[in-house]
Amino acid sequence: MKSFNLQEKMKGVYSDALGWQGDDADFISVTNPSDGTEIARVASASHDSIESFISQAQSGFNVWSTIPAPKRGEMIRLLANAFREHKEDLANLISLEMGKIKAESLGEVQEMIDIADFAVTLSRQLYGLTMTSERLQHRMYEQWLPLSPVLVITAFNFPVAVWAWNAMIAAVCGNTVIWKPSGKTPLVAIAIQHIVNEVMKTSDAKNVFSLCITENKALLQQLVDSPIFRLVSFTGSTPVGKVIAERVAKRLGRSLLELGGNNAVIVDDSANLNLAIPAIVFGAVGTAGQRCTSIRRLIVHHTKMDAVKAKLLAAYQQIKIGDPLQADVLMGPLIDAQAVALYQQTIQDIMRLGGKILCGGHTLKQAGNFVMPTLVEVKPDFPLLLEERFVPIVYVLPYQDLTQAIALQNAAHHGLSSALFTNRLRDAEQFLSSQGSDCGIANINIGPSGAEIGGAFGGEKDTGGGREAGSDAWKAYMRRQTVTVNWGDTLPLAQGIRFDIS
Ligand code: UN1
Repeated sequence: MKSFNLQEKMKGVYSDALGWQGDDADFISVTNPSDGTEIARVASASHDSIESFISQAQSGFNVWSTIPAPKRGEMIRLLANAFREHKEDLANLISLEMGKIKAESLGEVQEMIDIADFAVTLSRQLYGLTMTSERLQHRMYEQWLPLSPVLVITAFNFPVAVWAWNAMIAAVCGNTVIWKPSGKTPLVAIAIQHIVNEVMKTSDAKNVFSLCITENKALLQQLVDSPIFRLVSFTGSTPVGKVIAERVAKRLGRSLLELGGNNAVIVDDSANLNLAIPAIVFGAVGTAGQRCTSIRRLIVHHTKMDAVKAKLLAAYQQIKIGDPLQADVLMGPLIDAQAVALYQQTIQDIMRLGGKILCGGHTLKQAGNFVMPTLVEVKPDFPLLLEERFVPIVYVLPYQDLTQAIALQNAAHHGLSSALFTNRLRDAEQFLSSQGSDCGIANINIGPSGAEIGGAFGGEKDTGGGREAGSDAWKAYMRRQTVTVNWGDTLPLAQGIRFDIS
Protein backbone atom coordinates (compact mmCIF):
# COMPACT_ATOMS: atom_id res chain seq x y z
CA MET A 1 0.00 0.00 0.00
CA LYS A 2 1.25 3.45 -0.86
CA SER A 3 1.60 5.24 2.44
CA PHE A 4 0.49 8.82 2.93
CA ASN A 5 0.87 11.37 5.64
CA LEU A 6 -2.25 11.58 7.73
CA GLN A 7 -1.14 14.78 9.43
CA GLU A 8 -0.75 16.42 6.03
CA LYS A 9 -4.19 15.17 5.04
CA MET A 10 -5.75 16.50 8.20
CA LYS A 11 -4.34 19.96 7.53
CA GLY A 12 -6.62 19.98 4.53
CA VAL A 13 -9.57 18.68 6.44
CA TYR A 14 -11.74 21.68 5.65
CA SER A 15 -11.39 21.36 1.91
CA ASP A 16 -11.28 17.56 1.97
CA ALA A 17 -14.49 17.57 3.94
CA LEU A 18 -16.06 19.16 0.88
CA GLY A 19 -15.64 15.76 -0.70
CA TRP A 20 -18.51 14.70 1.54
CA GLN A 21 -20.72 17.65 0.88
CA GLY A 22 -23.15 18.39 -1.87
CA ASP A 23 -24.23 21.91 -2.52
CA ASP A 24 -25.44 22.73 0.98
CA ALA A 25 -23.66 25.48 2.84
CA ASP A 26 -24.44 23.67 6.08
CA PHE A 27 -21.44 23.35 8.42
CA ILE A 28 -20.91 21.42 11.62
CA SER A 29 -18.64 23.18 14.07
CA VAL A 30 -16.18 20.92 15.88
CA THR A 31 -14.99 22.07 19.29
CA ASN A 32 -12.05 20.90 21.35
CA PRO A 33 -13.71 19.77 24.62
CA SER A 34 -10.51 20.51 26.56
CA ASP A 35 -10.54 24.25 25.91
CA GLY A 36 -13.79 25.09 24.13
CA THR A 37 -12.12 26.40 20.97
CA GLU A 38 -13.47 25.62 17.53
CA ILE A 39 -10.99 23.36 15.74
CA ALA A 40 -12.79 22.79 12.46
CA ARG A 41 -15.92 23.30 10.44
CA VAL A 42 -17.08 20.32 8.48
CA ALA A 43 -19.41 20.56 5.54
CA SER A 44 -22.62 18.63 5.97
CA ALA A 45 -24.10 16.35 3.33
CA SER A 46 -27.01 17.65 1.28
CA HIS A 47 -30.20 15.96 0.11
CA ASP A 48 -28.66 15.32 -3.32
CA SER A 49 -25.38 14.02 -1.95
CA ILE A 50 -27.29 11.54 0.22
CA GLU A 51 -29.16 10.28 -2.82
CA SER A 52 -25.86 9.77 -4.60
CA PHE A 53 -24.31 8.02 -1.54
CA ILE A 54 -27.25 5.65 -1.54
CA SER A 55 -27.03 4.81 -5.23
CA GLN A 56 -23.23 4.45 -5.06
CA ALA A 57 -23.51 2.16 -2.04
CA GLN A 58 -25.93 0.01 -4.05
CA SER A 59 -23.73 -0.12 -7.18
CA GLY A 60 -20.70 -0.76 -4.96
CA PHE A 61 -22.58 -3.65 -3.35
CA ASN A 62 -23.36 -5.15 -6.77
CA VAL A 63 -19.60 -5.58 -7.36
CA TRP A 64 -18.24 -6.12 -3.83
CA SER A 65 -20.75 -8.85 -3.02
CA THR A 66 -19.46 -10.92 -5.96
CA ILE A 67 -15.83 -10.84 -4.79
CA PRO A 68 -14.94 -14.05 -2.89
CA ALA A 69 -15.03 -13.53 0.87
CA PRO A 70 -11.32 -14.37 1.45
CA LYS A 71 -10.43 -11.74 -1.19
CA ARG A 72 -12.61 -9.25 0.66
CA GLY A 73 -10.73 -10.33 3.78
CA GLU A 74 -7.47 -9.44 2.04
CA MET A 75 -8.65 -5.84 1.67
CA ILE A 76 -9.55 -5.79 5.35
CA ARG A 77 -6.06 -7.09 6.14
CA LEU A 78 -4.58 -4.11 4.27
CA LEU A 79 -6.91 -1.82 6.20
CA ALA A 80 -5.75 -3.34 9.51
CA ASN A 81 -2.15 -2.63 8.45
CA ALA A 82 -3.06 0.97 7.64
CA PHE A 83 -4.78 1.40 11.01
CA ARG A 84 -1.61 0.08 12.66
CA GLU A 85 0.50 2.51 10.67
CA HIS A 86 -1.66 5.48 11.71
CA LYS A 87 -2.42 4.36 15.26
CA GLU A 88 -0.61 7.23 16.95
CA ASP A 89 -2.07 9.97 14.71
CA LEU A 90 -5.59 8.59 15.00
CA ALA A 91 -5.29 8.35 18.78
CA ASN A 92 -4.11 11.97 18.98
CA LEU A 93 -7.05 13.07 16.89
CA ILE A 94 -9.54 11.11 19.04
CA SER A 95 -8.16 12.73 22.20
CA LEU A 96 -8.22 16.18 20.62
CA GLU A 97 -11.74 15.95 19.27
CA MET A 98 -13.47 13.67 21.77
CA GLY A 99 -11.42 14.24 24.92
CA LYS A 100 -10.65 10.70 26.08
CA ILE A 101 -7.14 10.25 27.43
CA LYS A 102 -4.42 9.16 25.02
CA ALA A 103 -4.06 5.67 26.56
CA GLU A 104 -7.75 5.04 25.94
CA SER A 105 -7.57 6.53 22.45
CA LEU A 106 -4.72 4.16 21.62
CA GLY A 107 -6.91 1.38 23.03
CA GLU A 108 -9.76 2.45 20.78
CA VAL A 109 -7.58 2.31 17.66
CA GLN A 110 -6.31 -1.07 18.86
CA GLU A 111 -9.94 -2.16 19.08
CA MET A 112 -10.30 -1.27 15.37
CA ILE A 113 -7.18 -3.25 14.53
CA ASP A 114 -8.41 -6.22 16.56
CA ILE A 115 -11.80 -6.32 14.87
CA ALA A 116 -10.19 -5.94 11.45
CA ASP A 117 -7.90 -8.90 12.23
CA PHE A 118 -10.92 -10.85 13.47
CA ALA A 119 -12.80 -10.02 10.26
CA VAL A 120 -9.89 -11.26 8.13
CA THR A 121 -10.00 -14.67 9.81
CA LEU A 122 -13.78 -14.66 9.59
CA SER A 123 -13.57 -14.18 5.83
CA ARG A 124 -12.68 -17.87 5.55
CA GLN A 125 -15.17 -19.01 8.16
CA LEU A 126 -18.61 -17.77 7.11
CA TYR A 127 -19.87 -21.27 7.81
CA GLY A 128 -23.33 -22.61 7.25
CA LEU A 129 -24.65 -25.93 8.54
CA THR A 130 -25.40 -29.05 6.56
CA MET A 131 -28.65 -30.76 7.50
CA THR A 132 -29.72 -34.33 6.78
CA SER A 133 -32.68 -34.36 4.46
CA GLU A 134 -35.62 -36.66 5.22
CA ARG A 135 -36.01 -37.26 1.49
CA LEU A 136 -34.18 -39.83 -0.63
CA GLN A 137 -31.28 -38.43 -2.69
CA HIS A 138 -31.74 -34.93 -1.41
CA ARG A 139 -29.13 -32.66 0.06
CA MET A 140 -29.98 -29.83 2.43
CA TYR A 141 -27.71 -27.09 3.74
CA GLU A 142 -27.71 -23.42 4.56
CA GLN A 143 -25.56 -20.69 3.12
CA TRP A 144 -24.89 -17.14 4.19
CA LEU A 145 -25.00 -14.53 1.47
CA PRO A 146 -24.22 -10.80 1.43
CA LEU A 147 -27.17 -8.77 2.69
CA SER A 148 -27.22 -5.23 1.31
CA PRO A 149 -25.59 -1.86 1.87
CA VAL A 150 -25.54 -1.30 5.64
CA LEU A 151 -26.14 2.02 7.37
CA VAL A 152 -23.97 2.46 10.47
CA ILE A 153 -24.76 5.32 12.85
CA THR A 154 -22.25 5.77 15.66
CA ALA A 155 -21.91 7.84 18.83
CA PHE A 156 -19.26 10.33 19.95
CA ASN A 157 -17.88 8.24 22.82
CA PHE A 158 -16.30 5.54 20.64
CA PRO A 159 -15.91 7.62 17.50
CA VAL A 160 -14.11 4.95 15.45
CA ALA A 161 -14.16 1.54 17.19
CA VAL A 162 -17.90 1.01 16.92
CA TRP A 163 -17.80 1.88 13.21
CA ALA A 164 -15.02 -0.69 12.84
CA TRP A 165 -16.99 -3.39 14.68
CA ASN A 166 -19.77 -2.94 12.16
CA ALA A 167 -17.87 -1.98 9.03
CA MET A 168 -15.14 -4.63 9.14
CA ILE A 169 -17.63 -7.43 9.70
CA ALA A 170 -20.22 -6.07 7.26
CA ALA A 171 -17.52 -5.75 4.60
CA VAL A 172 -16.15 -9.29 4.83
CA CYS A 173 -19.75 -10.43 4.67
CA GLY A 174 -19.93 -8.72 1.25
CA ASN A 175 -21.84 -5.57 2.14
CA THR A 176 -21.03 -1.95 1.49
CA VAL A 177 -21.22 0.45 4.43
CA ILE A 178 -22.40 4.03 4.78
CA TRP A 179 -21.18 5.58 7.99
CA LYS A 180 -23.00 8.42 9.73
CA PRO A 181 -20.67 9.41 12.58
CA SER A 182 -21.65 11.63 15.49
CA GLY A 183 -21.64 15.30 14.54
CA LYS A 184 -19.51 15.82 17.66
CA THR A 185 -16.64 13.75 16.26
CA PRO A 186 -16.54 14.02 12.46
CA LEU A 187 -12.80 14.73 12.13
CA VAL A 188 -11.56 11.30 13.09
CA ALA A 189 -14.22 9.83 10.81
CA ILE A 190 -12.82 11.92 7.95
CA ALA A 191 -9.31 10.74 8.80
CA ILE A 192 -10.48 7.13 8.71
CA GLN A 193 -12.21 7.73 5.39
CA HIS A 194 -8.93 9.02 3.92
CA ILE A 195 -7.15 5.88 5.08
CA VAL A 196 -9.90 3.66 3.72
CA ASN A 197 -9.95 5.46 0.36
CA GLU A 198 -6.22 5.02 -0.02
CA VAL A 199 -6.37 1.29 0.75
CA MET A 200 -9.49 0.61 -1.30
CA LYS A 201 -7.99 2.21 -4.43
CA THR A 202 -6.59 -1.20 -5.29
CA SER A 203 -9.97 -2.94 -5.06
CA ASP A 204 -12.19 -3.62 -8.08
CA ALA A 205 -15.18 -2.47 -6.04
CA LYS A 206 -15.86 1.21 -5.44
CA ASN A 207 -17.72 2.85 -2.55
CA VAL A 208 -17.39 -0.11 -0.21
CA PHE A 209 -17.00 2.34 2.66
CA SER A 210 -18.43 5.82 2.51
CA LEU A 211 -18.94 8.61 4.97
CA CYS A 212 -22.00 10.79 5.32
CA ILE A 213 -21.75 13.65 7.79
CA THR A 214 -24.97 15.36 8.71
CA GLU A 215 -27.00 16.27 11.77
CA ASN A 216 -29.98 17.36 9.69
CA LYS A 217 -33.03 15.44 10.90
CA ALA A 218 -34.75 15.28 7.49
CA LEU A 219 -31.58 13.93 5.86
CA LEU A 220 -31.12 11.37 8.62
CA GLN A 221 -34.69 10.20 8.09
CA GLN A 222 -33.99 9.99 4.37
CA LEU A 223 -31.10 7.64 5.14
CA VAL A 224 -32.90 5.55 7.75
CA ASP A 225 -35.98 5.15 5.55
CA SER A 226 -34.07 4.10 2.45
CA PRO A 227 -35.10 0.52 1.62
CA ILE A 228 -31.66 -0.31 0.22
CA PHE A 229 -30.40 -0.64 3.83
CA ARG A 230 -31.75 -4.00 4.87
CA LEU A 231 -29.78 -3.43 8.07
CA VAL A 232 -29.37 -0.25 10.10
CA SER A 233 -26.90 -0.38 12.98
CA PHE A 234 -27.39 2.34 15.57
CA THR A 235 -25.42 3.19 18.70
CA GLY A 236 -26.80 5.96 20.87
CA SER A 237 -29.61 6.79 23.25
CA THR A 238 -32.64 4.62 23.92
CA PRO A 239 -35.21 7.25 22.83
CA VAL A 240 -33.47 7.79 19.47
CA GLY A 241 -32.95 4.04 19.08
CA LYS A 242 -36.68 3.46 19.53
CA VAL A 243 -37.49 5.99 16.79
CA ILE A 244 -35.00 4.38 14.42
CA ALA A 245 -36.17 0.84 15.21
CA GLU A 246 -39.77 1.85 14.51
CA ARG A 247 -38.96 3.52 11.19
CA VAL A 248 -36.82 0.59 10.04
CA ALA A 249 -39.43 -1.96 11.19
CA LYS A 250 -42.10 -0.12 9.21
CA ARG A 251 -40.30 -1.11 6.01
CA LEU A 252 -39.46 -4.53 7.50
CA GLY A 253 -35.76 -3.79 7.67
CA ARG A 254 -33.57 -5.05 10.50
CA SER A 255 -32.03 -2.83 13.09
CA LEU A 256 -29.07 -3.63 15.28
CA LEU A 257 -29.25 -1.50 18.39
CA GLU A 258 -26.71 -0.72 21.10
CA LEU A 259 -28.41 1.81 23.32
CA GLY A 260 -26.32 2.26 26.42
CA GLY A 261 -26.44 0.79 29.86
CA ASN A 262 -26.98 1.39 33.53
CA ASN A 263 -24.23 -0.93 34.59
CA ALA A 264 -23.72 -2.12 38.14
CA VAL A 265 -20.85 -3.72 39.99
CA ILE A 266 -21.61 -5.95 42.94
CA VAL A 267 -18.86 -6.36 45.55
CA ASP A 268 -19.57 -9.25 47.89
CA ASP A 269 -18.12 -9.92 51.34
CA SER A 270 -15.46 -12.31 49.98
CA ALA A 271 -14.28 -9.94 47.21
CA ASN A 272 -10.60 -9.20 46.69
CA LEU A 273 -10.53 -5.40 46.89
CA ASN A 274 -7.11 -5.31 45.22
CA LEU A 275 -8.97 -6.36 42.08
CA ALA A 276 -12.24 -4.59 42.73
CA ILE A 277 -11.01 -1.07 43.50
CA PRO A 278 -8.88 -0.44 40.36
CA ALA A 279 -11.57 -2.08 38.22
CA ILE A 280 -14.24 0.19 39.70
CA VAL A 281 -12.13 3.31 39.24
CA PHE A 282 -11.42 2.46 35.58
CA GLY A 283 -15.05 1.58 34.95
CA ALA A 284 -16.33 4.75 36.61
CA VAL A 285 -13.76 7.33 35.52
CA GLY A 286 -12.53 5.87 32.20
CA THR A 287 -13.70 7.94 29.20
CA ALA A 288 -14.93 10.37 31.89
CA GLY A 289 -17.87 8.04 32.57
CA GLN A 290 -19.05 8.31 28.97
CA ARG A 291 -18.86 4.66 27.93
CA CYS A 292 -22.01 2.65 27.38
CA THR A 293 -20.32 0.21 29.74
CA SER A 294 -19.37 2.79 32.40
CA ILE A 295 -20.27 2.00 36.01
CA ARG A 296 -23.33 3.85 37.21
CA ARG A 297 -24.11 1.82 40.35
CA LEU A 298 -21.93 0.14 42.93
CA ILE A 299 -23.77 -2.39 45.08
CA VAL A 300 -21.64 -3.33 48.08
CA HIS A 301 -22.15 -5.97 50.76
CA HIS A 302 -22.90 -4.03 53.94
CA THR A 303 -19.89 -5.54 55.76
CA LYS A 304 -17.51 -4.24 53.06
CA MET A 305 -19.06 -0.80 52.74
CA ASP A 306 -16.63 1.13 54.94
CA ALA A 307 -13.55 -0.50 53.40
CA VAL A 308 -14.77 0.03 49.83
CA LYS A 309 -15.66 3.68 50.45
CA ALA A 310 -12.32 4.43 52.14
CA LYS A 311 -10.27 2.82 49.37
CA LEU A 312 -12.31 4.43 46.60
CA LEU A 313 -12.02 7.87 48.15
CA ALA A 314 -8.25 7.43 48.40
CA ALA A 315 -8.10 6.30 44.76
CA TYR A 316 -10.30 9.18 43.53
CA GLN A 317 -7.91 11.68 45.16
CA GLN A 318 -5.17 10.45 42.82
CA ILE A 319 -7.08 11.02 39.61
CA LYS A 320 -5.46 13.78 37.66
CA ILE A 321 -7.97 15.63 35.49
CA GLY A 322 -6.91 17.71 32.51
CA ASP A 323 -5.53 17.71 28.98
CA PRO A 324 -6.21 14.20 27.68
CA LEU A 325 -3.01 14.29 25.64
CA GLN A 326 -0.85 14.75 28.74
CA ALA A 327 0.74 11.50 29.91
CA ASP A 328 -0.20 11.46 33.61
CA VAL A 329 -3.81 12.63 33.15
CA LEU A 330 -6.38 9.93 33.92
CA MET A 331 -9.57 11.81 33.12
CA GLY A 332 -10.28 14.23 30.29
CA PRO A 333 -13.23 16.55 29.74
CA LEU A 334 -16.85 15.73 29.00
CA ILE A 335 -17.79 15.99 25.35
CA ASP A 336 -19.62 19.34 25.42
CA ALA A 337 -21.31 22.05 27.47
CA GLN A 338 -24.60 20.15 27.34
CA ALA A 339 -22.95 17.19 29.10
CA VAL A 340 -21.60 19.56 31.77
CA ALA A 341 -25.10 20.98 32.24
CA LEU A 342 -26.48 17.45 32.64
CA TYR A 343 -23.80 16.73 35.25
CA GLN A 344 -24.72 19.90 37.15
CA GLN A 345 -28.43 19.14 36.92
CA THR A 346 -27.81 15.62 38.21
CA ILE A 347 -25.83 16.93 41.20
CA GLN A 348 -28.72 19.27 42.01
CA ASP A 349 -31.20 16.39 41.69
CA ILE A 350 -29.05 14.24 43.96
CA MET A 351 -28.97 16.90 46.67
CA ARG A 352 -32.70 17.52 46.37
CA LEU A 353 -33.44 13.78 46.65
CA GLY A 354 -31.17 13.27 49.67
CA GLY A 355 -28.14 11.51 48.15
CA LYS A 356 -24.89 11.95 50.11
CA ILE A 357 -22.03 13.20 47.94
CA LEU A 358 -18.87 11.41 49.10
CA CYS A 359 -16.50 13.16 46.69
CA GLY A 360 -16.65 15.37 43.60
CA GLY A 361 -19.95 17.04 42.82
CA HIS A 362 -18.65 20.14 41.04
CA THR A 363 -17.13 21.36 37.81
CA LEU A 364 -13.56 22.61 37.44
CA LYS A 365 -13.15 26.36 37.23
CA GLN A 366 -11.20 26.43 34.00
CA ALA A 367 -11.83 26.46 30.25
CA GLY A 368 -13.09 23.17 28.84
CA ASN A 369 -15.77 20.72 29.95
CA PHE A 370 -14.06 19.42 33.08
CA VAL A 371 -16.02 17.98 35.97
CA MET A 372 -15.02 16.08 39.10
CA PRO A 373 -15.72 12.33 39.13
CA THR A 374 -18.34 11.84 41.79
CA LEU A 375 -19.36 9.15 44.27
CA VAL A 376 -22.75 9.40 45.91
CA GLU A 377 -24.01 7.21 48.75
CA VAL A 378 -27.69 6.41 48.42
CA LYS A 379 -30.36 4.07 49.77
CA PRO A 380 -31.44 1.15 47.55
CA ASP A 381 -34.67 2.95 46.62
CA PHE A 382 -32.98 6.17 45.41
CA PRO A 383 -35.06 7.36 42.41
CA LEU A 384 -32.13 8.22 40.09
CA LEU A 385 -30.75 4.68 40.30
CA LEU A 386 -32.83 3.56 37.35
CA GLU A 387 -31.75 6.31 34.95
CA GLU A 388 -28.71 6.28 32.70
CA ARG A 389 -27.06 9.68 32.68
CA PHE A 390 -23.90 9.87 30.63
CA VAL A 391 -21.73 11.58 33.27
CA PRO A 392 -19.08 10.33 35.76
CA ILE A 393 -21.38 9.92 38.76
CA VAL A 394 -21.57 6.58 40.58
CA TYR A 395 -24.20 5.69 43.17
CA VAL A 396 -22.95 3.52 46.02
CA LEU A 397 -25.51 1.46 47.93
CA PRO A 398 -25.44 -1.41 50.43
CA TYR A 399 -27.00 -4.86 50.20
CA GLN A 400 -27.62 -7.73 52.63
CA ASP A 401 -27.63 -10.87 50.46
CA LEU A 402 -26.71 -11.69 46.87
CA THR A 403 -30.26 -12.40 45.72
CA GLN A 404 -31.20 -8.88 46.78
CA ALA A 405 -28.08 -7.41 45.09
CA ILE A 406 -28.92 -9.16 41.81
CA ALA A 407 -32.51 -7.92 42.02
CA LEU A 408 -31.25 -4.35 42.56
CA GLN A 409 -28.95 -4.70 39.58
CA ASN A 410 -31.64 -6.16 37.33
CA ALA A 411 -34.15 -3.45 38.29
CA ALA A 412 -32.48 -1.14 35.74
CA HIS A 413 -34.28 -0.54 32.45
CA HIS A 414 -31.06 -1.21 30.55
CA GLY A 415 -29.25 -4.54 30.41
CA LEU A 416 -25.81 -4.05 28.90
CA SER A 417 -22.97 -4.98 31.25
CA SER A 418 -22.58 -6.26 34.80
CA ALA A 419 -19.90 -7.47 37.17
CA LEU A 420 -19.56 -9.35 40.42
CA PHE A 421 -16.44 -9.33 42.57
CA THR A 422 -16.35 -12.50 44.65
CA ASN A 423 -14.06 -15.29 45.75
CA ARG A 424 -16.95 -17.72 46.17
CA LEU A 425 -17.75 -20.11 43.34
CA ARG A 426 -21.37 -20.44 44.44
CA ASP A 427 -21.93 -16.69 44.26
CA ALA A 428 -20.27 -16.47 40.86
CA GLU A 429 -22.44 -19.28 39.52
CA GLN A 430 -25.61 -17.75 40.99
CA PHE A 431 -24.74 -14.48 39.24
CA LEU A 432 -24.23 -16.33 35.94
CA SER A 433 -27.32 -18.53 36.25
CA SER A 434 -30.72 -17.91 34.65
CA GLN A 435 -31.71 -16.21 37.90
CA GLY A 436 -28.58 -14.06 37.84
CA SER A 437 -27.53 -11.03 35.81
CA ASP A 438 -29.99 -10.16 33.04
CA CYS A 439 -27.35 -8.28 31.02
CA GLY A 440 -25.71 -9.11 27.69
CA ILE A 441 -22.32 -9.05 29.41
CA ALA A 442 -21.62 -10.60 32.82
CA ASN A 443 -18.14 -10.52 34.35
CA ILE A 444 -16.59 -12.09 37.42
CA ASN A 445 -13.70 -10.22 39.05
CA ILE A 446 -13.49 -7.86 36.05
CA GLY A 447 -15.18 -4.48 35.75
CA PRO A 448 -18.11 -4.05 33.35
CA SER A 449 -16.25 -1.88 30.78
CA GLY A 450 -13.38 -2.72 28.48
CA ALA A 451 -14.78 -5.76 26.71
CA GLU A 452 -12.65 -7.66 24.20
CA ILE A 453 -13.85 -7.74 20.58
CA GLY A 454 -13.89 -11.55 20.44
CA GLY A 455 -17.20 -11.79 22.29
CA ALA A 456 -20.56 -10.54 21.05
CA PHE A 457 -21.14 -7.05 22.45
CA GLY A 458 -24.60 -5.75 23.35
CA GLY A 459 -27.41 -6.15 25.81
CA GLU A 460 -31.05 -6.65 26.62
CA LYS A 461 -34.11 -4.53 27.51
CA ASP A 462 -33.55 -0.80 26.85
CA THR A 463 -30.08 -1.60 25.53
CA GLY A 464 -31.86 -2.80 22.39
CA GLY A 465 -30.93 -6.47 22.05
CA GLY A 466 -28.28 -6.06 19.33
CA ARG A 467 -24.99 -7.96 19.25
CA GLU A 468 -21.92 -6.57 17.50
CA ALA A 469 -18.22 -7.46 17.11
CA GLY A 470 -17.11 -11.04 17.78
CA SER A 471 -18.55 -14.55 18.20
CA ASP A 472 -21.30 -15.11 15.60
CA ALA A 473 -22.48 -11.47 15.52
CA TRP A 474 -21.55 -11.56 11.79
CA LYS A 475 -24.80 -13.43 11.09
CA ALA A 476 -26.76 -10.18 11.51
CA TYR A 477 -24.95 -8.83 8.44
CA MET A 478 -25.82 -11.72 6.12
CA ARG A 479 -28.79 -13.25 4.40
CA ARG A 480 -29.44 -16.85 5.41
CA GLN A 481 -30.58 -19.21 2.70
CA THR A 482 -31.73 -22.79 3.22
CA VAL A 483 -30.95 -24.86 0.15
CA THR A 484 -32.38 -28.27 -0.77
CA VAL A 485 -31.09 -30.09 -3.84
CA ASN A 486 -32.83 -33.10 -5.32
CA TRP A 487 -30.22 -35.21 -7.11
CA GLY A 488 -32.53 -38.19 -7.69
CA ASP A 489 -35.13 -38.88 -10.35
CA THR A 490 -38.23 -38.99 -8.14
CA LEU A 491 -40.06 -36.16 -6.41
CA PRO A 492 -40.77 -37.20 -2.81
CA LEU A 493 -42.56 -34.47 -0.84
CA ALA A 494 -41.62 -33.49 2.71
CA GLN A 495 -43.80 -34.75 5.57
CA GLY A 496 -44.60 -37.79 3.41
CA ILE A 497 -47.38 -35.95 1.59
CA ARG A 498 -48.75 -37.81 -1.42
CA PHE A 499 -49.90 -35.65 -4.26
CA ASP A 500 -50.22 -37.97 -7.21
CA ILE A 501 -50.79 -36.59 -10.64
CA SER A 502 -50.92 -39.16 -13.36
C1 UN1 B 1 -19.43 1.88 24.00
O1 UN1 B 1 -19.29 2.48 25.05
O2 UN1 B 1 -20.33 2.18 23.17
O3 UN1 B 1 -16.38 -2.54 26.46
C2 UN1 B 1 -18.52 0.81 23.56
C3 UN1 B 1 -16.01 -1.37 26.32
C4 UN1 B 1 -15.45 -0.97 24.97
C5 UN1 B 1 -16.55 -0.60 24.04
C6 UN1 B 1 -17.54 0.38 24.59
N1 UN1 B 1 -14.71 -2.08 24.43
O4 UN1 B 1 -16.04 -0.55 27.23
